[in-house]
Amino acid sequence: MKKLILANWKMHLSFKESEKLARDYRVQIKNSTAELGVFPDFSALEVVGRNLPTKLFKLGAQDLAPYLKGAYTGEVSATSLKQLGVKYVLVGHSERRQEFKEKSPLLRLKIQAALEAGLVPILCIGENASQKKAGKTAAVLRRQLEEVLFGLRIEKDDALVVAYEPLWAIGSGKALEASEAEAIQVTIKGVLANLIGRFPRVVYGGSVSPKNAAAFLEWPNIDGLLVGGASLKAAEFKKIISG
Ligand code: PGA
Repeated sequence: MKKLILANWKMHLSFKESEKLARDYRVQIKNSTAELGVFPDFSALEVVGRNLPTKLFKLGAQDLAPYLKGAYTGEVSATSLKQLGVKYVLVGHSERRQEFKEKSPLLRLKIQAALEAGLVPILCIGENASQKKAGKTAAVLRRQLEEVLFGLRIEKDDALVVAYEPLWAIGSGKALEASEAEAIQVTIKGVLANLIGRFPRVVYGGSVSPKNAAAFLEWPNIDGLLVGGASLKAAEFKKIISG
């Protein structure tokens, strides 16, 4: 399967800036051996989608409502995202977990809503620094996966993606060693096989840069990358995808 390289623009850019960056991507990135995804904020999904060739770039949303429809002021449904041409949607990014106190039961509803609308959810998991120090990484990841996915029917391997992002590596400039990431991805895949009987792609995220991207992509169980800061300049993202 192709590697999956995802650009998470978070809330760093305004609508106009997102439109501009999409144009920069279009001008600078003409092909890739990887599958590429771009995740602007909700307001910019349409304009970014319009400015990028769909063959090369899949559109992704950073979040979604836990329900498909109803009186949920301020939320955006999976159905609307689908109609906007979105393919992927992040669920449980650590910033949602930390800043907005999102917990597993809510994330489970979001995964279900995404699947029901035909979107591919990207479930984000990761341990914090003290959990890592205490040697609890594998146990924490297992619990995060079980709490959200237990008993869910995932129709096929590519109906779901998991993003492994150690919390201490996000935005810190300190990425995990690629060999260590590979070992953890193998553990995650083992848990997923038991839990849902599927082999979804598992990508690594956390301070990915043009300097370290190739080292991650060499490993067979690192199925791609989730890139934050380094995706905000087309030239840097281009370097990342070219290995
Ligand atoms: P970063 O963010 O690449 O800036 O560390 C990654 C993420 O939060 O998805």
